[in-house]
Amino acid sequence: MSNGPEPGWKRRAYSIAALRQMARSTLPRPVFDFADGGAEDERTLQRNETAFDRYDLLPRPLNGAADRDLSVTLFGRPMTMPVIIGPTGLAGLFWPEGEQAAARAAAAIGVPYCLSHGSVCPLETLAETGASPRWMQIFIYRDRTFTRELTARAQAAGYDALVLTIDNQFLGNRERDIRNGFTIPPRFTLKQAFGMATRLPWLFRMRNELGRVTFGNYVRPGEVNNIRALAGRMSSLLDPAMSWQDVEALRAQWKGPMLLKGVLHPEEARRALSSGIDGLIVSNHGGRQLDGAPASLQALPSVVEAVAGSVPILIDGGIRRGADVVKAIALGATAVLVGRPQLWGLSVAGEAGVFHMLELFRREIDRTLGLLGKSRLSDLSRDDLLERR
Ligand SMILES: Cc1cc2nc3c(=O)[nH]c(=O)nc-3n(C[C@H](O)[C@H](O)[C@H](O)COP(=O)(O)O)c2cc1C
Repeated sequence: MSNGPEPGWKRRAYSIAALRQMARSTLPRPVFDFADGGAEDERTLQRNETAFDRYDLLPRPLNGAADRDLSVTLFGRPMTMPVIIGPTGLAGLFWPEGEQAAARAAAAIGVPYCLSHGSVCPLETLAETGASPRWMQIFIYRDRTFTRELTARAQAAGYDALVLTIDNQFLGNRERDIRNGFTIPPRFTLKQAFGMATRLPWLFRMRNELGRVTFGNYVRPGEVNNIRALAGRMSSLLDPAMSWQDVEALRAQWKGPMLLKGVLHPEEARRALSSGIDGLIVSNHGGRQLDGAPASLQALPSVVEAVAGSVPILIDGGIRRGADVVKAIALGATAVLVGRPQLWGLSVAGEAGVFHMLELFRREIDRTLGLLGKSRLSDLSRDDLLERR
């Protein structure tokens, strides 16, 4: 048995949906569901994807779009296409050194990579890959000293932007994880593991990793790396009492672009501007937190209107096709982030799988633009969409 991907994987991974199916047959059920699932009845999770169906694309083929340019500039840095790897905790559970693999793939394509607070690899280790631009995502912790420490570490390690996630003040109620007995971090008994005969390649690949899967950023120097203690500490660290004062304190500390992730309300978007925030991510955490929150795409237009071009607006949630990216941009987003697709790419083929996932997006965006009769993303507007009533 080898550590590598299955032969012929690339041919079968012809779309993001196909990649998901392949991840499903590769991963143990509790691990697949941890990534795939959402909160409670998963209504928000489903709407994230179906919201894109509300808009049709209105082509003007005779515009002539022989050459297409997919590049965008964000915070003064060019990116080759408008797809960013979003922060997902425990990516190292899907492939050995999963975070480093995904960051390398993003750098090779020329897009930013955002590390999760809950990465397996410590932020300093990720920085050693040299992947750039790299962003760091954090929370406001009950222990404000820890919040400041993590921020200072990200600054010292040369991260280009700070992403403060504001919709994770409690852990969402993820019922698939309850059903599967999945805990964060995961614990598998050997018996459970060997019951998963068709998942042997994953198990073999991860044989030296599973014991080490932990929240790498939470181990303070000199501390014993005890994953159960760390998981307990993490949930007790989250602070439902966080407020704009915390955002402003962080803004004062961080030198560089700072984004808020998890903005859905136009009023909150406007308020963020007066706190000196440089960018917003319209997001409902991939439907993993507040079930009943609107689809990100549904919330996008009013946030765009509230901000009126002052700062870039990004969006994530349910983006599975190049056409979805094009629709989000036509509605006013500068770029999108993808969460689960990177984990499916990782599960299937590690770094090559994430690279392939990004390539699929690149090709699909390019083809969609061409069929629309557009040469540049900046030419897209609401006029290119027909809203279904
Ligand atoms: C397994 C998993 C772990 C995640 N961990 C984090 C996290 O640590 N911090 C964060 O801000 N968002 C986290 N997210 C949310 C993603 O950043 C993103 O908002 C969401 O996945 C986007 O939706 P998509 O998966 O449909 O692309 C996580 C998502 C998944 C699927």
